[in-house]
Amino acid sequence: MASNALHNMPQHVAIVMDGNGRWAAKRFLPRLAGHQQGVVALRRCVKACVERGVGVLTVFAFSSENWNRPAEEVSSLMELLVHAVVNEVPDLQKNGVRLYFVGDRQRLSAKVQAALSSAELSTASQSRMVLNVCFNYGGRWDMAQAAQKVAASGQPITELAIDRALALAHVPDPDLLIRTGGELRISNFLLWQAAYTELHFTDKLWPEFDVTALDEALQVYRSRERRFGQSSAQIQAAEVKPSDQSVKAA
Ligand code: IPE
Ligand code: IPE
Ligand code: MG
Repeated sequence: MASNALHNMPQHVAIVMDGNGRWAAKRFLPRLAGHQQGVVALRRCVKACVERGVGVLTVFAFSSENWNRPAEEVSSLMELLVHAVVNEVPDLQKNGVRLYFVGDRQRLSAKVQAALSSAELSTASQSRMVLNVCFNYGGRWDMAQAAQKVAASGQPITELAIDRALALAHVPDPDLLIRTGGELRISNFLLWQAAYTELHFTDKLWPEFDVTALDEALQVYRSRERRFGQSSAQIQAAEVKPSDQSVKAA
């Protein structure tokens, strides 16, 4: 599924958009102001990823565990989601972005569910970039729901069968995972899919994550050697194949 992407652009970038609350606190603003600025940062990041030829962007917007926040913050995040979804659709269409919401929708209100479905439908014909917004998503939830699907189908439980039943089966595994906000943890994001993903942590708070910070992360990715269990010598030998040399000589 994944290939050695040395010197290449990542095909799939995933982001844990963390640090909205701290961004707001530093400015003596309510946490909601940080989340609102987070939407601005996401808009900027989506546009930059489209321009750079990234095929898939997957962002973590609300985790299974975020229900543990004060009820007021949870409900303002739900309202912000509906508002942002309605507002952003025209720009997504203009930029050729197909939107998917990934996560357990059952716990979301009928109004939120309807907004998500309608935005997905409105961008369904776009094909320049896929944007997966993980909302009420958790890696453990995903693995459990995939295992249930495979078991119910009666198929043997193989890696491939689980992979196909996961909520992100429509995209390849992420090549690069960025976490803003300085924490060095995964927080239940993409537990299965990040098996061989390159990780990049930055102290920048999500609302501050600008195009320069994105380019830095992409540059760091390009400097990495992805080995997928092989030795470095094997990777380097495969980089200059005889066929490549003949192409270069021609
Ligand atoms: C990330 O920012 C957004 C969500 C989890 C919804 P936070 O709200 O976690 O911001 P910090 O970590 O408190 O700064
Ligand atoms: C992770 O951020 C989830 C999202 C960005 C949506 P959190 O702020 O919820 O993560 P923890 O609780 O600090 O690990
Ligand atoms: Mg946080």
